[in-house]
Amino acid sequence: MVGAGLVGQRHVDAIARSQDAAVAAIVDPSEAARQFAEEGGYPWYAELSDMLAAERPNGAIIATPNALHLPQGLDLLRARIPVLIEKPLADDATSAGELVAEAEAGEVPLLVGHHRRHNPIIQAAKEKISSGALGEIVAVNGLCWLYKPDDYFDTKWRTQKGAGPVFINLIHDVDLMRHLVGEITAVEAFQASAVRGHEVEDTSAIILRFAGGALGTLSVSDTIVAPWSWELTAAENPAYPETQQNCYFIGGTHGSLELPGLRSWAQDGVRSWWEPIGQSRADISKADPLDAQISHFCQVIRGKATPLVSGTDGLRSLQVIAAIKQSADDGVPVEVTPGAAA
Ligand SMILES: NC(=O)c1ccc[n+]([C@@H]2O[C@H](COP(=O)([O-])OP(=O)(O)OC[C@H]3O[C@@H](n4cnc5c(N)ncnc54)[C@H](O)[C@@H]3O)[C@@H](O)[C@H]2O)c1
Repeated sequence: MVGAGLVGQRHVDAIARSQDAAVAAIVDPSEAARQFAEEGGYPWYAELSDMLAAERPNGAIIATPNALHLPQGLDLLRARIPVLIEKPLADDATSAGELVAEAEAGEVPLLVGHHRRHNPIIQAAKEKISSGALGEIVAVNGLCWLYKPDDYFDTKWRTQKGAGPVFINLIHDVDLMRHLVGEITAVEAFQASAVRGHEVEDTSAIILRFAGGALGTLSVSDTIVAPWSWELTAAENPAYPETQQNCYFIGGTHGSLELPGLRSWAQDGVRSWWEPIGQSRADISKADPLDAQISHFCQVIRGKATPLVSGTDGLRSLQVIAAIKQSADDGVPVEVTPGAAA
Protein backbone atom coordinates (compact mmCIF):
# COMPACT_ATOMS: atom_id res chain seq x y z
CA MET A 1 0.00 0.00 0.00
CA VAL A 2 1.74 3.13 -1.24
CA GLY A 3 0.15 6.12 0.51
CA ALA A 4 -1.83 5.32 3.63
CA GLY A 5 -3.91 8.48 3.96
CA LEU A 6 -7.67 8.76 3.79
CA VAL A 7 -8.23 6.39 0.87
CA GLY A 8 -5.16 4.22 1.43
CA GLN A 9 -6.43 3.26 4.87
CA ARG A 10 -9.77 2.28 3.36
CA HIS A 11 -7.92 -0.05 0.98
CA VAL A 12 -5.97 -1.52 3.90
CA ASP A 13 -9.28 -2.16 5.70
CA ALA A 14 -10.67 -3.82 2.55
CA ILE A 15 -7.56 -6.02 2.29
CA ALA A 16 -7.93 -6.96 5.96
CA ARG A 17 -11.51 -8.12 5.22
CA SER A 18 -10.39 -10.04 2.14
CA GLN A 19 -9.85 -13.81 1.92
CA ASP A 20 -7.58 -13.32 -1.09
CA ALA A 21 -5.03 -10.74 -0.05
CA ALA A 22 -2.81 -9.57 2.78
CA VAL A 23 -0.88 -6.35 3.26
CA ALA A 24 2.81 -6.95 2.49
CA ALA A 25 3.96 -3.46 3.45
CA ILE A 26 2.95 0.16 3.85
CA VAL A 27 4.94 2.92 2.16
CA ASP A 28 4.25 6.42 3.43
CA PRO A 29 6.69 8.88 5.01
CA SER A 30 4.16 10.43 7.42
CA GLU A 31 4.29 9.77 11.14
CA ALA A 32 0.56 9.00 11.07
CA ALA A 33 1.15 6.25 8.50
CA ARG A 34 4.10 4.84 10.47
CA GLN A 35 1.85 4.57 13.52
CA PHE A 36 -0.97 3.09 11.44
CA ALA A 37 1.44 0.42 10.12
CA GLU A 38 2.73 -0.31 13.60
CA GLU A 39 -0.80 -0.71 15.00
CA GLY A 40 -1.71 -3.10 12.17
CA GLY A 41 1.55 -5.04 12.44
CA TYR A 42 2.56 -4.22 8.85
CA PRO A 43 6.13 -3.64 7.66
CA TRP A 44 6.60 0.11 7.06
CA TYR A 45 8.83 2.02 4.65
CA ALA A 46 9.17 5.78 4.25
CA GLU A 47 10.00 5.55 0.54
CA LEU A 48 8.93 3.30 -2.32
CA SER A 49 12.58 2.72 -3.29
CA ASP A 50 13.29 1.34 0.22
CA MET A 51 10.38 -1.08 -0.08
CA LEU A 52 11.42 -2.21 -3.56
CA ALA A 53 14.94 -2.91 -2.30
CA ALA A 54 13.59 -5.13 0.48
CA GLU A 55 10.33 -6.74 -0.70
CA ARG A 56 8.64 -8.08 -3.79
CA PRO A 57 4.88 -7.81 -3.32
CA ASN A 58 2.52 -9.53 -5.78
CA GLY A 59 0.84 -6.20 -6.42
CA ALA A 60 0.75 -2.60 -5.24
CA ILE A 61 -1.90 0.06 -4.74
CA ILE A 62 -0.95 3.70 -5.13
CA ALA A 63 -3.08 6.17 -3.15
CA THR A 64 -0.70 9.10 -2.91
CA PRO A 65 -1.21 12.71 -4.08
CA ASN A 66 -1.89 12.79 -7.82
CA ALA A 67 1.50 14.19 -8.84
CA LEU A 68 3.20 11.07 -7.42
CA HIS A 69 1.12 8.62 -9.45
CA LEU A 70 3.42 8.92 -12.48
CA PRO A 71 6.86 8.43 -10.85
CA GLN A 72 5.66 5.78 -8.40
CA GLY A 73 3.59 4.00 -11.05
CA LEU A 74 6.58 3.89 -13.40
CA ASP A 75 8.86 2.52 -10.64
CA LEU A 76 6.41 -0.30 -9.88
CA LEU A 77 5.66 -1.13 -13.52
CA ARG A 78 9.39 -1.21 -14.31
CA ALA A 79 9.81 -3.64 -11.40
CA ARG A 80 7.10 -5.75 -13.12
CA ILE A 81 4.69 -5.36 -10.19
CA PRO A 82 0.98 -5.16 -11.15
CA VAL A 83 -0.41 -1.87 -9.90
CA LEU A 84 -3.78 -0.38 -9.05
CA ILE A 85 -3.53 3.42 -9.16
CA GLU A 86 -6.15 5.61 -7.53
CA LYS A 87 -8.05 8.00 -9.76
CA PRO A 88 -7.14 10.23 -11.45
CA LEU A 89 -4.58 7.97 -13.12
CA ALA A 90 -2.20 10.94 -13.23
CA ASP A 91 -2.07 14.72 -13.03
CA ASP A 92 -2.72 15.08 -16.76
CA ALA A 93 -3.40 12.97 -19.82
CA THR A 94 0.22 13.06 -21.03
CA SER A 95 1.46 11.49 -17.78
CA ALA A 96 -1.42 9.00 -17.84
CA GLY A 97 -0.38 8.07 -21.39
CA GLU A 98 3.18 7.38 -20.16
CA LEU A 99 1.85 4.97 -17.54
CA VAL A 100 -0.32 3.16 -20.08
CA ALA A 101 2.63 2.89 -22.50
CA GLU A 102 4.94 1.50 -19.78
CA ALA A 103 2.34 -1.06 -18.70
CA GLU A 104 1.79 -2.18 -22.29
CA ALA A 105 5.52 -2.35 -23.07
CA GLY A 106 6.20 -4.49 -20.00
CA GLU A 107 2.90 -6.40 -20.25
CA VAL A 108 2.24 -5.59 -16.59
CA PRO A 109 -1.37 -5.17 -15.42
CA LEU A 110 -2.35 -1.56 -14.72
CA LEU A 111 -5.72 -0.89 -13.06
CA VAL A 112 -7.34 2.42 -12.10
CA GLY A 113 -9.36 3.00 -8.94
CA HIS A 114 -12.69 3.97 -10.51
CA HIS A 115 -14.17 1.62 -7.93
CA ARG A 116 -17.82 2.41 -8.73
CA ARG A 117 -17.65 0.00 -11.69
CA HIS A 118 -17.27 -2.78 -9.11
CA ASN A 119 -20.57 -1.88 -7.44
CA PRO A 120 -23.19 -4.64 -8.07
CA ILE A 121 -25.66 -1.84 -8.90
CA ILE A 122 -23.50 -0.78 -11.84
CA GLN A 123 -22.96 -4.37 -12.89
CA ALA A 124 -26.75 -4.89 -12.95
CA ALA A 125 -27.25 -1.63 -14.86
CA LYS A 126 -24.59 -2.60 -17.40
CA GLU A 127 -26.29 -5.98 -17.94
CA LYS A 128 -29.69 -4.33 -18.35
CA ILE A 129 -28.39 -1.86 -20.93
CA SER A 130 -26.35 -4.49 -22.79
CA SER A 131 -29.37 -6.85 -22.90
CA GLY A 132 -31.18 -4.31 -25.08
CA ALA A 133 -34.09 -4.07 -22.60
CA LEU A 134 -34.00 -0.26 -22.84
CA GLY A 135 -33.72 -0.32 -26.64
CA GLU A 136 -31.25 2.09 -28.17
CA ILE A 137 -29.85 4.52 -25.61
CA VAL A 138 -30.89 8.03 -26.63
CA ALA A 139 -29.94 10.24 -23.70
CA VAL A 140 -28.50 10.25 -20.20
CA ASN A 141 -28.72 12.79 -17.44
CA GLY A 142 -26.41 12.77 -14.43
CA LEU A 143 -26.31 14.97 -11.36
CA CYS A 144 -23.45 15.46 -8.96
CA TRP A 145 -24.84 18.13 -6.66
CA LEU A 146 -23.43 18.30 -3.17
CA TYR A 147 -22.29 20.80 -0.59
CA LYS A 148 -18.72 20.65 0.65
CA PRO A 149 -18.43 22.34 4.04
CA ASP A 150 -16.62 25.65 3.98
CA ASP A 151 -13.65 24.35 6.03
CA TYR A 152 -12.98 21.75 3.29
CA PHE A 153 -11.47 24.69 1.41
CA ASP A 154 -9.08 25.64 4.23
CA THR A 155 -6.67 23.29 2.40
CA LYS A 156 -5.42 25.72 -0.23
CA TRP A 157 -4.86 23.35 -3.20
CA ARG A 158 -8.58 22.57 -3.17
CA THR A 159 -9.31 26.15 -4.26
CA GLN A 160 -6.72 26.22 -7.04
CA LYS A 161 -6.37 25.09 -10.64
CA GLY A 162 -6.05 21.29 -10.83
CA ALA A 163 -8.69 20.79 -8.11
CA GLY A 164 -12.42 21.60 -8.42
CA PRO A 165 -15.41 19.23 -8.53
CA VAL A 166 -15.00 18.43 -12.24
CA PHE A 167 -11.58 16.91 -11.68
CA ILE A 168 -12.15 15.54 -8.17
CA ASN A 169 -15.74 14.24 -8.32
CA LEU A 170 -17.12 14.27 -11.86
CA ILE A 171 -14.30 12.07 -13.18
CA HIS A 172 -16.04 9.12 -11.47
CA ASP A 173 -19.39 10.00 -13.11
CA VAL A 174 -17.68 10.39 -16.48
CA ASP A 175 -16.04 6.99 -16.06
CA LEU A 176 -19.41 5.39 -15.26
CA MET A 177 -21.12 7.06 -18.21
CA ARG A 178 -18.38 5.72 -20.50
CA HIS A 179 -18.78 2.27 -18.95
CA LEU A 180 -22.57 2.24 -19.30
CA VAL A 181 -23.22 4.15 -22.51
CA GLY A 182 -19.93 3.99 -24.44
CA GLU A 183 -17.11 6.24 -25.49
CA ILE A 184 -17.60 10.00 -25.24
CA THR A 185 -16.55 11.70 -28.47
CA ALA A 186 -17.32 15.39 -27.84
CA VAL A 187 -18.20 17.72 -24.98
CA GLU A 188 -19.35 21.27 -24.47
CA ALA A 189 -19.20 22.85 -21.03
CA PHE A 190 -19.85 25.99 -19.04
CA GLN A 191 -18.41 26.62 -15.62
CA ALA A 192 -18.97 29.12 -12.83
CA SER A 193 -17.13 30.07 -9.66
CA ALA A 194 -19.47 32.84 -8.62
CA VAL A 195 -20.65 31.33 -5.31
CA ARG A 196 -17.32 30.48 -3.72
CA GLY A 197 -15.19 32.88 -5.75
CA HIS A 198 -12.24 30.46 -5.94
CA GLU A 199 -9.79 30.11 -8.81
CA VAL A 200 -11.44 26.77 -9.69
CA GLU A 201 -15.06 26.22 -10.68
CA ASP A 202 -17.67 25.43 -8.05
CA THR A 203 -20.25 24.48 -10.70
CA SER A 204 -20.19 23.13 -14.25
CA ALA A 205 -22.84 22.11 -16.79
CA ILE A 206 -21.79 19.76 -19.56
CA ILE A 207 -23.25 18.33 -22.77
CA LEU A 208 -21.86 15.00 -24.02
CA ARG A 209 -21.96 13.16 -27.33
CA PHE A 210 -21.38 9.40 -27.27
CA ALA A 211 -19.88 7.31 -30.08
CA GLY A 212 -23.11 5.31 -30.41
CA GLY A 213 -25.13 8.48 -31.06
CA ALA A 214 -26.58 9.08 -27.58
CA LEU A 215 -26.42 12.54 -26.05
CA GLY A 216 -25.98 13.37 -22.39
CA THR A 217 -25.99 16.10 -19.83
CA LEU A 218 -24.04 16.19 -16.60
CA SER A 219 -24.00 18.89 -13.99
CA VAL A 220 -21.74 19.13 -10.99
CA SER A 221 -21.56 21.55 -8.11
CA ASP A 222 -19.94 21.49 -4.69
CA THR A 223 -22.05 24.40 -3.52
CA ILE A 224 -25.61 23.03 -3.77
CA VAL A 225 -27.42 21.60 -0.79
CA ALA A 226 -29.09 18.62 -2.49
CA PRO A 227 -29.52 14.86 -2.18
CA TRP A 228 -28.65 14.01 -5.82
CA SER A 229 -25.12 12.74 -6.28
CA TRP A 230 -23.64 9.23 -6.47
CA GLU A 231 -21.84 10.00 -3.23
CA LEU A 232 -25.11 10.61 -1.32
CA THR A 233 -27.31 8.06 -3.08
CA ALA A 234 -25.24 4.89 -3.59
CA ALA A 235 -24.32 4.26 0.07
CA GLU A 236 -20.83 3.13 -0.90
CA ASN A 237 -19.10 5.11 1.80
CA PRO A 238 -20.65 5.21 5.28
CA ALA A 239 -19.12 8.69 5.74
CA TYR A 240 -21.94 10.07 3.55
CA PRO A 241 -25.53 9.93 4.84
CA GLU A 242 -27.72 8.07 2.33
CA THR A 243 -30.57 10.05 0.77
CA GLN A 244 -32.55 7.24 -0.98
CA GLN A 245 -32.67 9.33 -4.16
CA ASN A 246 -31.38 8.81 -7.70
CA CYS A 247 -28.75 10.75 -9.60
CA TYR A 248 -28.49 9.14 -13.05
CA PHE A 249 -31.31 8.79 -15.56
CA ILE A 250 -30.65 6.68 -18.65
CA GLY A 251 -33.21 6.77 -21.43
CA GLY A 252 -33.68 4.40 -24.37
CA THR A 253 -36.19 3.91 -27.16
CA HIS A 254 -37.87 1.07 -25.21
CA GLY A 255 -37.38 2.03 -21.59
CA SER A 256 -35.42 3.97 -19.06
CA LEU A 257 -33.47 3.38 -15.89
CA GLU A 258 -32.85 5.31 -12.67
CA LEU A 259 -29.64 4.81 -10.72
CA PRO A 260 -28.60 3.86 -8.17
CA GLY A 261 -32.20 2.80 -7.33
CA LEU A 262 -32.29 0.41 -10.32
CA ARG A 263 -35.93 1.19 -11.03
CA SER A 264 -36.69 0.77 -14.72
CA TRP A 265 -39.63 2.02 -16.76
CA ALA A 266 -41.11 0.42 -19.87
CA GLN A 267 -44.37 -0.12 -21.77
CA ASP A 268 -45.62 -3.63 -22.50
CA GLY A 269 -47.68 -2.81 -25.53
CA VAL A 270 -47.75 0.32 -27.62
CA ARG A 271 -45.05 2.85 -26.80
CA SER A 272 -46.86 6.12 -26.36
CA TRP A 273 -46.99 9.03 -23.95
CA TRP A 274 -50.77 8.41 -23.80
CA GLU A 275 -50.25 4.90 -22.36
CA PRO A 276 -49.32 4.01 -18.76
CA ILE A 277 -45.69 3.13 -18.14
CA GLY A 278 -44.86 0.08 -16.03
CA GLN A 279 -42.08 0.11 -13.50
CA SER A 280 -39.96 -2.56 -11.90
CA ARG A 281 -37.09 -2.53 -9.48
CA ALA A 282 -34.21 -4.97 -9.53
CA ASP A 283 -33.39 -6.27 -6.09
CA ILE A 284 -29.69 -6.83 -5.72
CA SER A 285 -27.60 -7.39 -2.66
CA LYS A 286 -25.29 -4.53 -1.77
CA ALA A 287 -21.54 -5.00 -1.63
CA ASP A 288 -18.70 -2.61 -0.92
CA PRO A 289 -17.07 -1.89 -4.29
CA LEU A 290 -13.66 -1.44 -2.61
CA ASP A 291 -13.86 -5.08 -1.41
CA ALA A 292 -14.88 -6.24 -4.88
CA GLN A 293 -12.05 -4.18 -6.40
CA ILE A 294 -9.48 -5.93 -4.17
CA SER A 295 -10.70 -9.39 -5.05
CA HIS A 296 -10.74 -8.41 -8.75
CA PHE A 297 -7.15 -7.10 -8.46
CA CYS A 298 -6.13 -10.48 -7.00
CA GLN A 299 -7.81 -12.28 -9.90
CA VAL A 300 -5.92 -10.04 -12.37
CA ILE A 301 -2.61 -10.73 -10.58
CA ARG A 302 -3.31 -14.47 -10.79
CA GLY A 303 -3.99 -14.13 -14.52
CA LYS A 304 -7.65 -15.13 -14.09
CA ALA A 305 -9.20 -11.80 -15.13
CA THR A 306 -8.42 -8.76 -17.23
CA PRO A 307 -8.72 -5.31 -15.63
CA LEU A 308 -12.31 -4.05 -15.41
CA VAL A 309 -10.92 -0.50 -15.31
CA SER A 310 -7.74 -0.53 -17.34
CA GLY A 311 -5.04 2.12 -17.62
CA THR A 312 -6.57 3.06 -20.97
CA ASP A 313 -9.93 3.61 -19.23
CA GLY A 314 -8.24 5.86 -16.68
CA LEU A 315 -6.55 7.76 -19.50
CA ARG A 316 -9.77 8.19 -21.49
CA SER A 317 -11.79 9.40 -18.52
CA LEU A 318 -9.01 11.89 -17.84
CA GLN A 319 -9.11 13.02 -21.48
CA VAL A 320 -12.85 13.66 -21.22
CA ILE A 321 -12.27 15.74 -18.09
CA ALA A 322 -9.48 17.66 -19.86
CA ALA A 323 -11.85 18.32 -22.78
CA ILE A 324 -14.58 19.55 -20.39
CA LYS A 325 -12.14 21.98 -18.78
CA GLN A 326 -10.88 23.13 -22.19
CA SER A 327 -14.40 23.66 -23.52
CA ALA A 328 -15.38 25.71 -20.48
CA ASP A 329 -12.19 27.80 -20.74
CA ASP A 330 -12.39 28.39 -24.51
CA GLY A 331 -16.19 28.60 -24.89
CA VAL A 332 -16.31 26.06 -27.73
CA PRO A 333 -17.25 22.36 -28.11
CA VAL A 334 -14.23 20.04 -27.91
CA GLU A 335 -13.81 16.70 -29.67
CA VAL A 336 -12.33 13.88 -27.60
CA THR A 337 -10.09 11.58 -29.55
CA PRO A 338 -9.96 8.22 -27.75
CA GLY A 339 -6.44 6.98 -27.18
CA ALA A 340 -4.66 10.17 -28.19
CA ALA A 341 -2.81 12.00 -25.44
CA ALA A 342 -4.62 15.32 -24.86
N1 LIG B 1 -11.52 6.41 -5.43
C1 LIG B 1 -11.99 7.44 -4.75
O1 LIG B 1 -13.18 7.60 -4.57
C2 LIG B 1 -11.05 8.43 -4.16
C3 LIG B 1 -11.49 9.26 -3.12
C4 LIG B 1 -10.59 10.18 -2.58
C5 LIG B 1 -9.29 10.24 -3.08
N2 LIG B 1 -8.91 9.45 -4.10
C6 LIG B 1 -7.54 9.52 -4.65
O2 LIG B 1 -6.64 8.84 -3.77
C7 LIG B 1 -5.38 9.52 -3.73
C8 LIG B 1 -5.07 9.88 -2.27
O3 LIG B 1 -6.09 10.70 -1.77
P1 LIG B 1 -6.33 10.85 -0.20
O4 LIG B 1 -7.59 11.62 -0.06
O5 LIG B 1 -6.20 9.52 0.45
O6 LIG B 1 -5.10 11.76 0.20
P2 LIG B 1 -4.38 11.86 1.61
O7 LIG B 1 -3.65 13.16 1.59
O8 LIG B 1 -5.32 11.56 2.73
O9 LIG B 1 -3.32 10.65 1.57
C9 LIG B 1 -2.15 10.66 0.77
C10 LIG B 1 -1.06 9.93 1.53
O10 LIG B 1 0.10 9.84 0.69
C11 LIG B 1 1.22 9.98 1.53
N3 LIG B 1 2.43 10.32 0.77
C12 LIG B 1 2.91 11.54 0.44
N4 LIG B 1 4.08 11.40 -0.22
C13 LIG B 1 4.33 10.06 -0.30
C14 LIG B 1 5.38 9.29 -0.87
N5 LIG B 1 6.43 9.86 -1.50
N6 LIG B 1 5.30 7.95 -0.78
C15 LIG B 1 4.27 7.34 -0.16
N7 LIG B 1 3.24 8.03 0.43
C16 LIG B 1 3.28 9.37 0.33
C17 LIG B 1 0.82 11.06 2.52
O11 LIG B 1 1.64 11.06 3.68
C18 LIG B 1 -0.63 10.66 2.82
O12 LIG B 1 -0.71 9.78 3.92
C19 LIG B 1 -5.55 10.71 -4.67
O13 LIG B 1 -5.06 10.36 -5.94
C20 LIG B 1 -7.04 10.93 -4.73
O14 LIG B 1 -7.47 11.54 -5.94
C21 LIG B 1 -9.75 8.53 -4.63
